[in-house]
Amino acid sequence: MTGSSRPLPPHGRSAGVTRPTPEDALFRHIVAGMRNGVLAIARTGEVALLNEEGYRIFGVEASHDDLGKPVAEVLRAHPDVVRQLLSAFELHMLPNRAEMRLRPSGKVIGYTLAFVKDDAGEVAGVAMFFKDLTRVEQIEERERLRDRLAAVGEMAAAIAHEVKNPLAGIEVMAGLLRRKIPDIPDAQAVLTDIIAEAKMANAIVQEVLEFVRPIRLQVEHTGIAEALHSAVHLADTKVARGGIVVEVKVPEDLPQIQADHHQLTQLFTNLLINAFEAMDGKGRVGITASTMQQDDGGEGREAVRIELQDNGPGMASEVAEHVFDPFYTTKAQGSGLGLAIVRKIVDAHDGQIDLRTVIGGGTLIRVTLPVVAAGSL
Ligand SMILES: Nc1ncnc2c1ncn2[C@@H]1O[C@H](COP(=O)(O)OP(=O)(O)OP(=O)(O)O)[C@@H](O)[C@H]1O
Ligand SMILES: [Mg+2]
Repeated sequence: MTGSSRPLPPHGRSAGVTRPTPEDALFRHIVAGMRNGVLAIARTGEVALLNEEGYRIFGVEASHDDLGKPVAEVLRAHPDVVRQLLSAFELHMLPNRAEMRLRPSGKVIGYTLAFVKDDAGEVAGVAMFFKDLTRVEQIEERERLRDRLAAVGEMAAAIAHEVKNPLAGIEVMAGLLRRKIPDIPDAQAVLTDIIAEAKMANAIVQEVLEFVRPIRLQVEHTGIAEALHSAVHLADTKVARGGIVVEVKVPEDLPQIQADHHQLTQLFTNLLINAFEAMDGKGRVGITASTMQQDDGGEGREAVRIELQDNGPGMASEVAEHVFDPFYTTKAQGSGLGLAIVRKIVDAHDGQIDLRTVIGGGTLIRVTLPVVAAGSL
């Protein structure tokens, strides 16, 4: 990307032509190193400047001969941006702190336009200063979801609380009755069922209460390998794994992360339980981990990425769309909270989770967790 912020040779007015000075180099470096995207075009519509961050946000490969080319050609993939820039010359009031969605990637940018004037005060071009707002949007979306969950959660907690006592009553009274009629086996069997069902309802109530309780993280240096190890162990105690093979590959030098060990263990346990339940006693779950730079709309931050791939039945897209919703389940005995809790834990760690699945092609769940969460510095 060398020379991507070299200014265009001046257009038209020869009065502007001067020999490059050390200040020019300084300005070039400032623009090149900016954490905002900068794009400038001359009156003729040719690209005068596009810095590295600009290329990154637009997702365009930098080429050394972009400068001087028509902006419509360089930003072929972004006709909206081109239109905005070219029409700016007709405007008196330029957009300030406006927002636009870039079509191909769905990224949202915040941008400001400004005229570039020459020494004589004439408009020589127009510049666009922009920033990737995707991360900001994600945070807002998450907050909206959190508000929604808070409302649902409050109601669920109130109901769960009310239901807990009568449930305990049913269980105790059925137990008493069972002891009173030891000689009627049919009635004994029914009462045993009642007790089992009441216990299960109680377990669901407990789970709901746990889900709606806000997470308080006990952050410590946490090893991913250790959390995965505990999770495999815990998942084994909760569901029968049968012949399913679990293969964990975590590099020795994977950094420890600032996280709540207990919550991470629960996160991976829920994912493993789902995989085991989906796979019906046979197949393979592969878990890998690596480091990466997480895109935060700025210069990125170090993160670890854990991928959990099973070769189970996968999911239809209608199912996959809803799996993180609380109470969404396709299982007769499921409460549909497993992945909602997973998402809650990932959010609390300022991480990300996504899922790729194909019917018959297994499911890949990818969890990205920052090594040091924002706000915990
Ligand atoms: N690895 C997987 N393979 C196939 N389907 C899955 C997988 N993981 C989750 N699902 C689907 O997503 C749904 C929601 O999962 P989630 O863990 O939230 O709830 P649940 O497993 O149904 O119930 P709970 O976890 O509360 O016992 C499941 O019912 C299942 O249909
Ligand atoms: Mg589950």
